[in-house]
Amino acid sequence: MTSGAPDAWDGIAAAAGALAASSHAIALTGAGLSVESGIPSFRGPDGLWTRYGQPSNLSYREFVADPQGWWEQRLHDEVTAGNPTYDLKDAADNADPNPGHLALVQLEQAGVLKATITQNVDDLHGRAGSRALLEIHGNRNFMRCVGCGQRWPRSGYVITDVPPVCDACGGVVKLDTVMFGEPIPSATLEACFAEVQRCDAMLLVGTSGTVNPAAQFPLLARDLGAKIIEVNPGPTQLTDAADIAINGPAGVVLPGIVELVQQRLGRKGEDEG
Ligand code: APR
Repeated sequence: MTSGAPDAWDGIAAAAGALAASSHAIALTGAGLSVESGIPSFRGPDGLWTRYGQPSNLSYREFVADPQGWWEQRLHDEVTAGNPTYDLKDAADNADPNPGHLALVQLEQAGVLKATITQNVDDLHGRAGSRALLEIHGNRNFMRCVGCGQRWPRSGYVITDVPPVCDACGGVVKLDTVMFGEPIPSATLEACFAEVQRCDAMLLVGTSGTVNPAAQFPLLARDLGAKIIEVNPGPTQLTDAADIAINGPAGVVLPGIVELVQQRLGRKGEDEG
């Protein structure tokens, strides 16, 4: 715990109680969850956007207007130090899931966590073992056709010409990662809203709550009666909406919550004989 403040441990106990008592808990995660894996967040003191500036909300429109120019710049930036694309790629290429990711997998395997909605594109949830996973901003390891939505693993995708073109529909192929100003793929967005409307507890982990539509999910869930639990070393725009706010790093707090949930579920199992 960053401060070791008693309220953090009280928060962990309260969060464990709420999750153990829930019937449909979900998680909403952000870049802060991957900080302990060595991937910088976007905002805050060491954030990528803090260092380099946030991309324009017209990014997607610029891509559509000149996909060839976008791809040429992208392939250059991925191998040239001194830009956010290079920094994020270098960090993510060398990152592994941390105890925070693994704790969420344990909650899923215990039948408590019914879905994880992540804003992260780093694939660490999938590599950790999360299965009920909604990657609302896409996944850095995939390509996606703008025309028909088909996706391919990037590792096996050979880019011969830029922009790459879909062999199924002739559409332009981009990275699966959702750009600023780009619509979220509709099937993913609908699935996210279905989980938000159904949940009776939402675990908010490592997000500043500044980017929509994800930032609206906790507010919608709260309005529908869900218990909101926030795990973050500092206050965010969502803290006021949280029933339980735990000040600490996800890699420490989440395992603490999971341990208490498993104890409570064990006791519940004994009581039910
Ligand atoms: N554990 C938990 N939270 C942490 C940790 C940690 N170890 N370290 C930092 N944080 C918190 C920060 O306090 C901050 O509130 O993580 C949050 C990260 O916020 P952002 O950098 O804004 O990341 P995020 O909320 O995921 O951004 C949303 O913005 O640019 C887009 O597509 C990008 O998905 C991203 C979206």
